[in-house]
Amino acid sequence: MAYARIAGTGSYLPGRVLTNAELEKMVDTTDEWIVSRTGIRERRVAADDEVTSELAEKAARQALAMAGVGPSDIDLIVVATTTPDQVFPSVGCLLQNRLGIHNGGAAFDVQAACAGFVYAIDVANRYFHTDGAQCALVVGAETFTRIIDWDDRNTCILFGDGAGAVVLQAANEPGIIATHLHADGKYHELLNVPAGVSANYAQILEGEAYTRMQGSEVFKWAVKALGDIVVETLEQSGYGKEDIDWLVPHQANIRIIRATAKKLGLGMDQVVVTVDRHGNTSAASIPLALDEAVRDGRIQRGHKIILEGFGGGFAWGSVLLAF
Ligand code: ACO
Repeated sequence: MAYARIAGTGSYLPGRVLTNAELEKMVDTTDEWIVSRTGIRERRVAADDEVTSELAEKAARQALAMAGVGPSDIDLIVVATTTPDQVFPSVGCLLQNRLGIHNGGAAFDVQAACAGFVYAIDVANRYFHTDGAQCALVVGAETFTRIIDWDDRNTCILFGDGAGAVVLQAANEPGIIATHLHADGKYHELLNVPAGVSANYAQILEGEAYTRMQGSEVFKWAVKALGDIVVETLEQSGYGKEDIDWLVPHQANIRIIRATAKKLGLGMDQVVVTVDRHGNTSAASIPLALDEAVRDGRIQRGHKIILEGFGGGFAWGSVLLAF
């Protein structure tokens, strides 16, 4: 059986930094409230002419360079995003074209909000097991600030833009050890953008399709679901807490991250945290954090890592991997 192994990582953040001090001038909030309730100090905002596929391309090129492979080696592209450039084609296809890949490999998007990257890894991993994939690009990329109401203090302080990417290569041993995905659509009203192509299209035309969230309800659910999934991940794969070197969590809120780390028995020195500088970049947050810790040398070859994400749907999931 062929396994998938991470051969390279990459990331990209737009240049514009939006600080809590600036948000204090935009809505009724304070730096103290934002830092104490979320851990966020600043986030990045894409320029008006920067699109998701462009962020994805910049992250992907870094991952390709680290892996030492060229675009033409890529036989599969899976992009996790909730903020695609267009309704269609997918960001996957747009990214494939940006990279100059015309070898007929599959390219598509996965939409699972903040859980998108773990969903995308799960999907791509299956192509190695069943379809002989040799080299895949898996990207999480978002221009999430485009669907933010800058007058809504409940949400506008939370989100940012960015992209992260990994190159997966075929290997004789894992790599990706186990993936676990879950969803429960009955909670769709707690966290959503209540507009799209076939519902409330007028909001899209008027530029008023914004993220709405019942934060404290989502918070309770996220803590429970992520606590449960890390336990499930260990139990079903036969690994113990002591086997895990790093938790690379979705970066929504430092309090959720701390709760999940505690459930795993990990100290915060074994958790990659970027939420303070990136905010919540939805599907991009996990690969952004992963790339940071790989490049600064914290994550080393052979380390066992758990990735976890939770978001709108609700959809949530985990990946256990050996780097
Ligand atoms: N500044 C000051 N006060 C605020 C702000 C703000 N920016 N935002 C809300 N408040 C107020 C509220 O109005 C409320 O006031 P009230 O008691 O007078 O009504 C009070 O602060 C407490 O509000 P809560 O929502 O209960 O605050 P909480 O401690 O839950 O923190 C937060 C809010 C940060 C949103 C938190 O609930 C959270 O992180 N939720 C989960 C987010 C998440 O994980 N989302 C999933 C991924 S996102 C995706 O999939 C797209």
